[in-house]
Amino acid sequence: MTAACEYRPGLEGVPATQSDISYVDGQRGILEYRGIRIDNLANHSTFLESSFLLIWGYLPTQDELDEFEHEIRYHRRLKYRIRDMMKCFPESGHPMDALQACAAALGLFYSRRALDDPAYIRAAVVRLLAKIPTMVAAFQLMRKGNDPIQPRDDLDYSANFLYMLTERIPDNLAAKIFDICLILHAEHTINASTFSAMVTASTLTDPYAVVASAVGTLAGPLHGGASEEVILMLEEIGSVENVRPFVEQCIERKSRIMGFGHRVYKVKDPRATILQELAEQMFEKFGHDDYYDIALELERVVAEKLAHKGIFSNVDFYSGLVYRKLGIPTDLFTPVFAIARVAGWLSHWKEQLEENRIFRPTQIYTGLHDTPYVSIDDRGSSADNQLVAELLMQ
Ligand code: ACO
Repeated sequence: MTAACEYRPGLEGVPATQSDISYVDGQRGILEYRGIRIDNLANHSTFLESSFLLIWGYLPTQDELDEFEHEIRYHRRLKYRIRDMMKCFPESGHPMDALQACAAALGLFYSRRALDDPAYIRAAVVRLLAKIPTMVAAFQLMRKGNDPIQPRDDLDYSANFLYMLTERIPDNLAAKIFDICLILHAEHTINASTFSAMVTASTLTDPYAVVASAVGTLAGPLHGGASEEVILMLEEIGSVENVRPFVEQCIERKSRIMGFGHRVYKVKDPRATILQELAEQMFEKFGHDDYYDIALELERVVAEKLAHKGIFSNVDFYSGLVYRKLGIPTDLFTPVFAIARVAGWLSHWKEQLEENRIFRPTQIYTGLHDTPYVSIDDRGSSADNQLVAELLMQ
């Protein structure tokens, strides 16, 4: 079959859907959720209000928001069977793998698939937003050998998550800053994990499978896993003086500098600008982090060397510094990203269902045709066969 259009690796620039959920202007560094600028939401909204906006398409009235928050507050608990299942996970396992397994397991408990019923959609949205943070916090306590603690109904979404994670009621500023981080990570057009969610949604499977597939995609170091890699990289660099040789070595070896570059943004990611401000607020209140000095120098040197390619800091560059100050372990940075991005995935799940067509792209076949089947006795050594295959492919 001949391809109707040019093949673009990574589908760069190929529209995969029509959506009115979010908008990115990569040249001007603008991100909007339902038309509202991200800095406006970071300054005035909350994560749950922004989630409502993303999923239902408008800012809720006070009554609607109260009801949404109330439902989520009372669905935070996990069934004991899920907690028991988590106890069997190896404590050395990555929390993203634990989260993916738990998200998929929700489908075992709530599998009634009624995708044309608004009540089913609402219940799935509430359950996923409510339970994913509890799962992340529970795995963290269990891998330390402790029992998970129950959510507290008197704490709001972000404060409750930090409480379940650290077993302490968080400082108000810390909880507020964490909530803004969730707003910033909630949605970002058709990124890899959202595309994964949409492809899974298009088969009309249940929303738990949709979120589980997206969690698996977010885990990779070229996507959500980068925030974790940024901290490991700052650790490896070790001092401000080492920054320049590190960057030069990366450029020479053509290796990626984590937390920099973006398929869409060719200027500094607007979320990185806000996260940098939040990191500074954290340092002012809770003490300086020497990694920030390394990060600042790294941003300076990368700008000097790679700005001509449109490589600037992305959302993952400063988020890790904020999370570190909040006492969140490095390997939980990506699960925290997932807590936020559930809102975006669910928005796209809902939008996909509204006008669904199963994703089934085409390919450009580059293999052989009419190849003879050679019986096993007549095949040469594997090195010979590989050589023959390579010659035939030329
Ligand atoms: N460090 C050094 N050089 C880079 C970087 C980087 N982080 N990112 C891109 N480049 C260079 C490439 O080497 C390439 O140079 P060349 O044209 O001389 O070969 C050029 O910029 C274009 O790179 P592409 O790979 O075509 O860019 P693409 O759009 O495919 O990649 C990506 C985007 C994957 C985010 C990339 O910038 C990257 O790997 N960054 C590091 C990982 C990271 O921070 N990921 C988080 C992204 S944000 C998110 O997912 C939430």
